[in-house]
Formats: sequence, structure tokens, C-alpha cells
Amino acid sequence: MTQRFDLTGRVALVAGASRGIGEAIAHGLAQHGAKVVCSSRKQADCEKVAEAIRDAGGEAISAELHLGELSHHGKTVNMIEETYGRLDILINNGATNPYMGPSHEAPDSAYDKTFEVNVKGPYYLSSTAIPLMLKNGKGAIVNVASIDGIKPAQGRVIYGMTKAAVIAMTKGMAKEYGNHGIRVNALLPGFTDTKLASALKNAPGIQKFMDANLAISRMAQPEEMVGAVLYMVSDESSYFTGQGMVVDAGAII
Ligand SMILES: NC(=O)c1ccc[n+]([C@@H]2O[C@H](COP(=O)([O-])OP(=O)(O)OC[C@H]3O[C@@H](n4cnc5c(N)ncnc54)[C@H](OP(=O)(O)O)[C@@H]3O)[C@@H](O)[C@H]2O)c1
Repeated sequence: MTQRFDLTGRVALVAGASRGIGEAIAHGLAQHGAKVVCSSRKQADCEKVAEAIRDAGGEAISAELHLGELSHHGKTVNMIEETYGRLDILINNGATNPYMGPSHEAPDSAYDKTFEVNVKGPYYLSSTAIPLMLKNGKGAIVNVASIDGIKPAQGRVIYGMTKAAVIAMTKGMAKEYGNHGIRVNALLPGFTDTKLASALKNAPGIQKFMDANLAISRMAQPEEMVGAVLYMVSDESSYFTGQGMVVDAGAII
């Protein structure tokens, strides 16, 4: 009998795999049989993740991939083609949020940086990866957006705008490539216990906020995002594309 969520023989590139949600996704993909390329700006940190995957019996390598450096995109995809001859799964997880505060005080540099990493990065990485996926006539892309993309939080308007763009990119690319065997979906995490959310985690009144706004009054652990991704990249979701899976403890109710 076929094992559900089996990714044996598939090659996956995870952008932003050095920690947090990306690290958890990299482990999850490897546990289900994928060969995982762990990438971020810090290859040494990604290599530690790849090493932990190998120690656990999986297959993984690391690569330096700064989402804002378009030359890194081509270099990484070429390396994957030379090493494995194929790319089946792309996880656009890396993102940044350098500014939190009122819109009228946000520096231009924060706007430019956030759009460069969160929008230009996944758009061009997808555009660079898709030709290799097309060679096999099959692929799955998961763009890690955020609930901020549909319900922007106060003080995070720029970040929310970038995540709305990622959701639009997901739906647009899904239409373009659905009949070529490539499915494109998004993960919309809620409040997850990672470095990116560390300022919020320690904010005064945060437990009271969670009690009032979440159906499960706690932060998620990064591992709690993995099951949704496994669904979206495996053949279990063969009729599922252009969608977003919201994993947010009922914050949108
Ligand atoms: N935590 C939350 O509450 C939450 C909620 C909704 C959505 N998300 C989304 O979930 C995703 C993962 O975030 P996280 O919470 O796991 O945060 P995290 O622990 O801070 O991890 C962010 C990852 O992005 C990578 N990254 C940052 N800038 C990059 C760049 N310029 N080029 C390549 N990689 C870059 C980091 O790697 P290096 O620093 O090694 O380059 C790291 O691997 C993001 O898309 C985020 O927007 C998070």
C-alpha cells in the first residue's frame, strides 16, 4: 500500500531553513523521504540543520542563498540541477520584518528591505526554479505568507503588505502553471514561537491578547506548521492549488 505523504526520491529546496519554521519544515520533508537543500544567508547555520537531518537518517545538503541577491538564486538552482538533476519542491519561507511601528514613522529603508526579501526574493526564486520543475512536468511550491497578509496587524503594515503580495503571487502562479503539473500554495502561520516573533512574545499583555483573540490561547511551535506543508507538497493534495492554509489557532474568527 502506498504510504501517504511519501516524498521519497523528491528534491526540495527550503529558503530560510537555518532556524524557526523553515528548519522544522526541512526536517519534516526529510522525515518523509525528500532530499533537502537547506538554504539561507548563513550557510554555516544551514549546514548544522542539514547535519542534524543526516544524523537522523535523512538526506540533506546546505547552500548560501540570500533572497535579495538574485545571482544566488540561479547559482543554487544550477547546483541542484547538477547535483540531483531535478527539483520537485520549493518552500519560499525566508522573510524579514525590520520595522514595527506606525506607518508614518517607517524609514524608506525598511520598506525597501522588506519588499526585497519577502516579495522580490520568492518571486524570483520561484521564477528561477520553475524551469527546472517544468523539465519533469511536476512540482509543488509553498510560499510561507502570514495571517498578516489577510488581516494586517497594527504596527506591521509593511510586513502585511508583503505577505498580501505573496498570497497574490501564489494565486497567479497557480493559474499559470497548474496545467503544467506545478501546484502553488501558501501557508499562513499565526503567532509562532521563533526569532521573528520574539519581540511580540515578550510584549506586555501578550497572554491577555492571546486569551481574547485565539481559540487556543498559546503560540504555535514551529513543528505545528509542518503537517500543512506536507499536505501541500505531497500527492495527497493533487487537486489543491492557488490556496492558502491558515494555521493560526482560530485567530480569524
Ligand atoms: N513566527 C511567526 O509568528 C510567523 C507568523 C506568520 C508568518 N511567519 C513567516 O514564517 C516564515 C519563517 O519565519 P520564522 O518565524 O521561522 O522566523 P525566523 O526564525 O526569524 O526565521 C527566518 C528565516 O528567514 C531567513 N532569512 C531572513 N532573511 C533572509 C534573506 N535575506 N535571505 C534568505 N533567508 C533569509 C533566516 O535565515 P538567515 O538569517 O540564516 O539568513 C531564517 O532562516 C517567514 O516567512 C515569516 O514571515 C512567521
